[in-house]
Amino acid sequence: MTESRHILLGQTLSFTADPFVAGANAAQHNTHGAVVITDGQVIWAGPADQLPSFPDSPVTNYGDNLIMAGFVDAHVHYPQTPMIASWGKRLIDWLNDYTFPEEARFGDDGYADEIASRYFDLALAHGTTTMCSFGTIHPESVDAFFNQAQRRGMRALAGKTCMDCNAPDTLRDTAQAAYDDSKTLLERWHNVDRLGYVITPRFSPTSTPKQLKALGALWAEHPECLMQTHLSEQVEEIAWVSDLFPEARDYLDTYEMHGLLGANGVYGHAIHLTDRERDRLKEFGAGIVHCPTSNTFIGSGLFDMAGLKAQGQRVGLATDTGGGSSFSMLRTMAAAYEIGQLNGTALHPAQLLWLATQGSAQSLRLENKIGNLAAGMDADLVVLDLASTPVIAQRSERADSFWEAVFPTIMMGDDRAIHDVWIAGRRV
Ligand code: GUN
Ligand code: ZN
Repeated sequence: MTESRHILLGQTLSFTADPFVAGANAAQHNTHGAVVITDGQVIWAGPADQLPSFPDSPVTNYGDNLIMAGFVDAHVHYPQTPMIASWGKRLIDWLNDYTFPEEARFGDDGYADEIASRYFDLALAHGTTTMCSFGTIHPESVDAFFNQAQRRGMRALAGKTCMDCNAPDTLRDTAQAAYDDSKTLLERWHNVDRLGYVITPRFSPTSTPKQLKALGALWAEHPECLMQTHLSEQVEEIAWVSDLFPEARDYLDTYEMHGLLGANGVYGHAIHLTDRERDRLKEFGAGIVHCPTSNTFIGSGLFDMAGLKAQGQRVGLATDTGGGSSFSMLRTMAAAYEIGQLNGTALHPAQLLWLATQGSAQSLRLENKIGNLAAGMDADLVVLDLASTPVIAQRSERADSFWEAVFPTIMMGDDRAIHDVWIAGRRV
C-alpha cells in the first residue's frame, strides 16, 4: 500500500477543453465520481463505477458534495487584507488615502508575517489553493508571504511591488534598489518548493522609465519568471499615464517600450483597451486578469470577457483583494456573471468555474500543474457543499440539471460552501 494514497468519492467536475471554445460539453461532471490521490498528485479521476482497484486505500466519501480543482486567484494584494472594503474613493484617491498608509506598515516583518498568515487562512477558508499576489515595496512582505505559503505546502506566486515615483517617501525604492531587491528575492524563492517569484512593477504611474527599464532587464535575465502589473483599469488613470508617458502609443506601450510585454506577462484589469493593445496582448500570448468585484467596487468599468475570449486571449479571474470586496472566488464568479449580463452576455456556469480554475491557471502559465481535476495534476482540491445555506439548498433542490444545481452556489455561495480543501494531497 502506498502510504499517501487516498480515494475521494463524491460528485466530480473536470474540464477536457475551454468551455468558451468547446461549450459546456468541455466540462465532465460525474454524479458518482472518484478521485485517486498519490504523493500529492491526482493519479486518476472519473466515474466511480470505473475506479480501478486500489486495495487498502483510505476512502473519504463526500456524498453529494462536489470535488473539483481548488480555486486559483490570479491577482491579489495580500497586504491590503486589513483595509478591504474602504469607502468612497476611485482608484488614485483610494490608493493614496487607504492603500499606501496600510502598505507602509509592512517594513515591520512581524506585522507582515501576521497579515500574511491571516491572508492565507482566509484564502484557504474560501477554497483558494493558489494565488498570485503583489507584496509591498518591502522585501520583508515577500518573505512573509512565501514563508506562510511554504508552511502550508501551497503553490503560490508573489513579488515585491516596485515604485520609485508618485508614492509617499516611505513607499519608494529606486530603479537600482528595485532591480537588486527583486533579484535577491527571485534567487531566494523562485522554484523553491511550490513557490514562484513574480517581477512586479506596480503600474506605470508609480515607476519612472528608468525603473521600468531596470525591471525589463531583470525579466530578460529571468524570462522563466512571470511579470505582473496593472493595465488600463480606470479612465482617469489612463489619462494620467498618457500625461506621464507622452511618447507612448497607449498604456500597454509604456510597458512594451521598457521590455515589460511578454508571454509570461500578467496584466490585471485591462478594461479600457485600444485595438492595438488587444492585438499586442494576443500576439504575445500575455495573460489578462479579470477582477470583477474590484471593478464594480472602485467603479472602474465593464471588462469585455466575451470579446477578449472570442479573440483567443488568455484570461484569468481574480479577487484583487482589497480593491476587490471579497476573498471568495465564488463571489468573484458571481460578479463576473453580473458584469457579463451588463455587457449582454450570460456566462455559463461551466465558463465561470473554468475561469476560476483552469483559466486563472492558464493566465499564470500553471495549467499543466493546477486548475483541473485530472491525472497528473497537483492534488489541490476544493469540495463544495451545493446546499450550504437554506436559500441555496431550496433553489438547488428543484434543479433539473447539474448546472442548475451548481449555479445558486456560484451566485450566493461564500466560505460556508467550502466543505473541505486539499493541498498537495493533504486535507487542511
Ligand atoms: N493599480 C495600482 N495599484 C493598484 C492596487 O493596489 N489595486 C488596484 N485595484 N489597482 C491598482
Ligand atoms: Zn491589483
